[in-house]
Amino acid sequence: MLGNSFGRLFRVTTCGESYGIGKGSGLAVIVDGVPPGLKITKGYIQKELDKRKPGVGKLNSPRKETDQCEIFAGIGQDGVTTGAPLGIIIYNVDTQKIHIDQYRAYKDIFRPGHAAYNFFLKYGEAQDWCGAGRSSGRETVARVAGGAVAKFILEREGIEVVAYTKECMGIKAKEMSFNEIKKNYRKNEINCPDFEAAKKMEKKVLEIKEEGDTAGGVVEIIAHNFPPGIGEPVFDKLNATIAHALCSIGAIKGIEFGAGFKVANMKGSENNDQPYLVGGKVRFKTNNAGGFLGGMSSGEDIIARLAVKPTPTISLEQISINMKTMKEEKLKPITRRDPTLVARIYAVAEAMMAIALLDGLYMARAYDAMAKLDKKWMDLKKK
Ligand SMILES: Cc1cc2nc3c(=O)[nH]c(=O)nc-3n(C[C@H](O)[C@H](O)[C@H](O)COP(=O)(O)O)c2cc1C
Repeated sequence: MLGNSFGRLFRVTTCGESYGIGKGSGLAVIVDGVPPGLKITKGYIQKELDKRKPGVGKLNSPRKETDQCEIFAGIGQDGVTTGAPLGIIIYNVDTQKIHIDQYRAYKDIFRPGHAAYNFFLKYGEAQDWCGAGRSSGRETVARVAGGAVAKFILEREGIEVVAYTKECMGIKAKEMSFNEIKKNYRKNEINCPDFEAAKKMEKKVLEIKEEGDTAGGVVEIIAHNFPPGIGEPVFDKLNATIAHALCSIGAIKGIEFGAGFKVANMKGSENNDQPYLVGGKVRFKTNNAGGFLGGMSSGEDIIARLAVKPTPTISLEQISINMKTMKEEKLKPITRRDPTLVARIYAVAEAMMAIALLDGLYMARAYDAMAKLDKKWMDLKKK
């Protein structure tokens, strides 16, 4: 399997699956590029992991994973990072035989909407048929641990990353400022800062769950206080790197930045964000561009929205193909699943956004150090 790392200078590599064998089974992340002397604690990483944890409410999977992390490398005797790669592991604790047997019974019949059809084509009989292996949503626990490290470093620079549920099954949250969103962050199970909309969304998801089905939604991610001028103008546009990071999360079917798909129906005069000066700094009156110009950050909030598909595993009987017999077969309803992914996936989106932004920042600072640009322009980049 290729492609288990993301980032150029700040880089995460993950390994592990949802049902590995033996006591040591779990998910791990190696984080490369961590500066020395940081007091990154298990507690700090755990706070991020708890956002993604299953089994905590009506809106997510009944799988009872505690998602407790251990830092096994990169912290010295004085309790601070040494500059060496940071290693974090999260053990699997809820890998019950009853569920392994269920996966075994249906291992040749792929789940519609999930990744198993392609795993048959790519890895044949050796494919990990138990719990979707590397394509399991559980893989993202290691990303969240790596993303927590990125968030810690970004926070030192005053940069915040916040994601929330913007829309679910046609119910939309009202427009809110970054500060309002932050104030109402994670105040309900679906993590929607518009409390009225949240109630309606949760009711709708529970109705769909009762039917044995699952619900989709939209997650918005905002990066606040990110400096301007970060990103490269050609292949490594910052928006392209962020899109790569976010679209690498399972179940993401669409991404838009700023005004997004609305630009298709806008005039140039409506779409162009008009600049103005405040205290000698350039700002923009609107943010249709979503925080980018020419692939580089503009200094306005970076705003991305993700279309999250309904969880593929449903509690309804489906017809699929048995890949051994190459015949159609019934696939029985499966009980352990998330009725919607939006209630947990926002934590993964924050993690991937943080990793992409920090990597972009490393690249820009490395280049700036070599470019030795006239100080006047360097100062302009500082907010
Ligand atoms: C945090 C998270 C949790 C997920 N939980 C489930 C789940 O419980 N059941 C399921 O069928 N899919 C779940 N998924 C979605 C699948 O991993 C994903 O749909 C599958 O890998 C196929 O990839 P694709 O949807 O990108 O094509 C989850 C994804 C994420 C990010």
